[in-house]
Amino acid sequence: MLLLFRGVERQAELHVASDAAEQHRPEPEYDYYPSQWVEPYLGRRRQNGFALYEVLGIDRRDLQRREQQMLRNYSFFDAPVGLLVTLDRRLNTGSYMDLGMFIQNILVAARGQGLHSCAQAAFAPFHAAVRRHLPLCEDDLLVCGIALGYEDTQAPENRLLTERQPVEEFASFHGFSEVAEGAC
Ligand SMILES: Cc1cc2nc3c(=O)[nH]c(=O)nc-3n(C[C@H](O)[C@H](O)[C@H](O)COP(=O)(O)O)c2cc1C
Repeated sequence: MLLLFRGVERQAELHVASDAAEQHRPEPEYDYYPSQWVEPYLGRRRQNGFALYEVLGIDRRDLQRREQQMLRNYSFFDAPVGLLVTLDRRLNTGSYMDLGMFIQNILVAARGQGLHSCAQAAFAPFHAAVRRHLPLCEDDLLVCGIALGYEDTQAPENRLLTERQPVEEFASFHGFSEVAEGAC
């Protein structure tokens, strides 16, 4: 299920989750992250986090400014449209894959329309606050939010380009050289 918010509706909705986040009452219904971080994911996560704070000019020991930045999630980073994505909790793990593809389709389609987006798992732990103000059924598990709008080219965080692993690091090719040789 998708809930879309715009304008005043978006503001009212998001303050709810923001209040909950400020009061530190996360109640995750599913584990987005591992309970124990291991390499290489830990290093990548740190690298991306540090790079973000660097472009934003936030000292990584400045917990207050880090928290303020985190809380911007709940105003959809000032994007004009916010989406909330839910999954029927009666489904199983495979449906997280299906939903991931559904979400990806939205993000890619947005680019096709000249829009930009930011997927936001940050909403998930505050589903209870969202639920109090939105028509979510008991079976709706809040999976993530999506900020949607046109890129603010002046925003420093939009200068950050996260690294990509080279293809050889996550894919191995078997039998392709023979095909290439045969084709010549
Ligand atoms: C499923 C998912 C959840 C995410 N949750 C958040 C989030 O809550 N807050 C956030 O700032 N970025 C979040 N991100 C990261 C951004 O959406 C985005 O991927 C990141 O800014 C880097 O951009 P890139 O994917 O083009 O490298 C999430 C990404 C994904 C795929």
